[in-house]
Amino acid sequence: MKLKNQVFIITGATSGMGESMAILFAQEGAQLVINGRNVKRGKAVEQKIKKITSDVSFYAGDIAQPSVNKELVELAITKYGKLNGIVTNAGILGLGRVAEISLDDWHTTLNTNFNSFFYLCKYSIPYLQKEEGVIIANASIAAFQSFPQHPIYCASKAALVALVKQIALDYGPKIRANAICPGPVDTPLIWASAKAFPDPTQAVHNAKESTILKRLGTPDDIAKLCLFLASQDASWITGTAITIDGGISITN
Ligand SMILES: NC(=O)c1ccc[n+]([C@@H]2O[C@H](COP(=O)([O-])OP(=O)(O)OC[C@H]3O[C@@H](n4cnc5c(N)ncnc54)[C@H](OP(=O)(O)O)[C@@H]3O)[C@@H](O)[C@H]2O)c1
Repeated sequence: MKLKNQVFIITGATSGMGESMAILFAQEGAQLVINGRNVKRGKAVEQKIKKITSDVSFYAGDIAQPSVNKELVELAITKYGKLNGIVTNAGILGLGRVAEISLDDWHTTLNTNFNSFFYLCKYSIPYLQKEEGVIIANASIAAFQSFPQHPIYCASKAALVALVKQIALDYGPKIRANAICPGPVDTPLIWASAKAFPDPTQAVHNAKESTILKRLGTPDDIAKLCLFLASQDASWITGTAITIDGGISITN
C-alpha cells in the first residue's frame, strides 16, 4: 500500500476526479477527510469508501469560505492526530468574457479555484511541516492556454501553478508541492465547459479527436497521477506542474 496510515484531505470529492482520487487513496491505505458542498453525493462517496476503510469523513462545505478550510484541517487533526497531505481538487468554470461576467461570478470563481488553495495551505502547512508533507493542486492545461469565455478559469489555474511553485520553494524540503494539469477529462465539468462553444457535443468530440491518444481522460487516469505524486515514488518531485492530457497540448 502506497499511502498506509497517511492522512489526506481531498476537496471536491463528491464527483469526477476527486471521487476517483478518494477511492484510490483509500484503497492504498489512506485515512481521509473528503469535502464538497453536495451532501447527498458526498455521503454516497463516503459510503462507497466505507466498504474499503472506516477511516473516512465527509465534511460538507463551501471551500470558498476560509472557515471551511480551517474546519477541514481541524477535523483531520482531531480524528487522526496528524495531516500528511492535501489535494485541492474542487473547481468551477465561471464562464463569461471579461466585459460580460458579473463581479459576483468573477469573485466566486477566484475564491473557489484559487483563494481556497491559499486558505487550505495556510491552515494545513503547520501540520504538514511536522510530516513529510504533500500538497497537490488540481490546475488544468487552462493554466497555459486560453479557451473561449474561460478568462477567470484560465487565470485562476495559472495563479494556482504559480503559488504551488512558491510554496514548494518556501516550505521545502519538509513539504513537496506540485500541480497537476489535466486536459479534457470525462466529468460533468467538461460538459459544462463545452457550453461555451456553439455546438457543445461537437466541442467535446473535437477535444477527444485532438488528443494524440484519441480519447478523453477518465477520472481514474488523473487519480493515478495524484497517487503517484502523493506517494514516496515521487519523493524527488516538487515545484512542478505535470500535464496529463492525452497529448492534446502539443496538437493545438
Ligand atoms: N474535467 C476536465 O476536463 C478538467 C480538466 C482540467 C482540470 N479540471 C479540474 O479538475 C477539478 C475537478 O473537476 P472535475 O472535472 O472532476 O469536475 P466535477 O465532477 O464537476 O467535480 C468538481 C468538484 O468540485 C466540487 N466543488 C465545486 N465548487 C466547490 C466549492 N465551492 N466547495 C467545495 N467543493 C466544490 C464539487 O462538489 P459539490 O458540487 O458537491 O460542491 C465537485 O466535487 C477541478 O478543479 C477542475 O477545474 C477538470
